[in-house]
Amino acid sequence: AFEDETIIVVLGASGDLAKKKTFPALFNLFKLNLLPKQTHIIGYARTKMDQPTFHEKISGHLKGLDTDEGKQAKEGFLKICKYISGQYDEDESFQKLNKEMEETASGKGDKPPSRLFYMALPPNVFTVVATGLKKNCYNDKGQNRIVIEKPFGKDLESSREMIGALKGLWKEEETFRIDHYLGKEMVKNLLIMRFGNPLIDAGLNNKLVDNVQITFKEPFGTEGRGGYFDEFGIIRDIQQNHLSQVLSLLAMDRPKSFSAEDIRDQKVKVLKAVPAIKEEDVLIGQYTASGDKPGYKDDDTVPKDSNCPTYAALTLWVNNDRWKNVPFILKGGKALDEAKVEIRVQFKDTEGGIFQDIPRNELVIRIQPNEAVYLKMNAKKPGLEMNTLPADLDLTYKERFSEVRIPEAYEALILDALNGDHSNFVRDDELDVSWAIFTPILHAIDAGKIKNEPYPYGSRGPPSVHKFVERYGYKRSNQS
Ligand code: BG6
Repeated sequence: AFEDETIIVVLGASGDLAKKKTFPALFNLFKLNLLPKQTHIIGYARTKMDQPTFHEKISGHLKGLDTDEGKQAKEGFLKICKYISGQYDEDESFQKLNKEMEETASGKGDKPPSRLFYMALPPNVFTVVATGLKKNCYNDKGQNRIVIEKPFGKDLESSREMIGALKGLWKEEETFRIDHYLGKEMVKNLLIMRFGNPLIDAGLNNKLVDNVQITFKEPFGTEGRGGYFDEFGIIRDIQQNHLSQVLSLLAMDRPKSFSAEDIRDQKVKVLKAVPAIKEEDVLIGQYTASGDKPGYKDDDTVPKDSNCPTYAALTLWVNNDRWKNVPFILKGGKALDEAKVEIRVQFKDTEGGIFQDIPRNELVIRIQPNEAVYLKMNAKKPGLEMNTLPADLDLTYKERFSEVRIPEAYEALILDALNGDHSNFVRDDELDVSWAIFTPILHAIDAGKIKNEPYPYGSRGPPSVHKFVERYGYKRSNQS
C-alpha cells in the first residue's frame, strides 16, 4: 500500500494544530523520503486564501530550512501542497473537494489513489465533517482513511455518542484516533523496555513496587486557549487520554503478539481493572498570577468564577493480581516550574533491616525533554569503608544515541496511518473504559463539589501536593 498514489487532505488547514504539528510532520516525512512516492496534500478550511498565502502560512513552522538542502526540500514540499477553501457543513463544498481530488490524481496507477482525511478540527464540527466526507468524498473503488484527534467527547456519555455517530459512517479499520502521546519515542519504548527485558518486567508488580507516579508538567499557562480549556480542564486535556495511555502501557500484561489488536486487548483489560476515581484520591489546583505572569482567571475568555482545574493529582488503583494496592498517581499541570513528562516507579524499601535510611530503587522513564531511562540504585561508596552511595544506571538518549534523530510523535503517527497500522491509535473500547474511570470525578468537579487549591504561576503546583504523594507512600530521597 505504501507505494500507492496517495492524497492527504488536511481539514482545518489554517488552524493551529495543522500549522504547528501536521504540516511540519508531513514536511519531515517528505524530507526523509518516507511519504508514498506519489503524494498530494490538499489543505482545506473555511478561510479564503490564495496558494502563496497558504504556502507562507504552512512554511512558518517548518524546521531545518537554514541549509540549502532544507530550502530545496521546502520548495519540493510546497509543490505537492495546495489549498482550497470550503464550508464544513455543505455538500457543495465537499463536492468541490472531491473534484479537486479527482483532478489531482495522476490517473496513471491501476487503481485510484488512497485517500487520507486528517481532521485537524475543533470538536463541534467532527461529526458534520465526517458525514460530509463520507457522503461526498469517499471513493468506493479505493482506500479511504480518516484521522481524528481529541477531544473525543467530554465524558462517557458524550464520547459514546460521538464515537457512535462516527462509527455509523467510518469503519473501525478506516478510523485512526490520535493520542499523540502514543507516537512519542519513549512511550513506544515501553513495550520493548518491559517485554524485551525479563529483569525489568519481573520487577513491575505489587511485590516490589511501592508506588508509581506519571507526571506531566508544562511551564506555560492556557494563554490564548482559555476558551477551549475552561470547557475541558486539565483532567480531560491530559490525564484521561495521555497519562492513562501511559499507565495502560506500563501496567498491562504481556500481549500475545505485537499486533495492534493484541496490544489493545491488553490495554483495555488493564483499564477495566481500574475502578472510577474516588473524591478522596483527588487534588486539584488552579494557577494564580505571579510576577508578570497572569493568573488563569486573568484570561478574558475565562469566567471570573471558574472552578476549572489547571492542575490535578489523581490516584488510580489497578485491582488485579499484579498491581493490587499499588497507587498510580497521575499528576498534570500547566503554568508550573518546568517542562517535564516522566514515569517514576518507586520500589519498596530493602528488607531485613540491615540498612537504615537507604534510598529506594526507582525506575525513571523520562518521556521529555531529554529522553532517558535510569535506575536509581545503591552502590558501595568507593573506598576502604563499607558505606553506601546512591547512584544511577543511566541511559540518557542524547548521550547513548547522539547520532539518531528522535522523531516527532506526529511523524510516527502519520506514517502508521498511511501504513494502516493501528497499534498506536486509540480503539473505541479503550475510550470507553478510560472515560468510565474519569467521568464521576469530572462530574463532581464540574458541579463545584471539589475545590481548587491555588498555586502561583511558575511554582511546583498546589503546595499540598507533596503531602498528597507522601500519603500514597512516596518517599523523597535527598537525591531525586
Ligand atoms: C495536548 C494538550 O493534547 O498536549 C495541550 O491539549 C498540551 O494542552 C499538549 O500542551 C502537550 O503535548 P506535548 O507533546 O507538548 O507534551
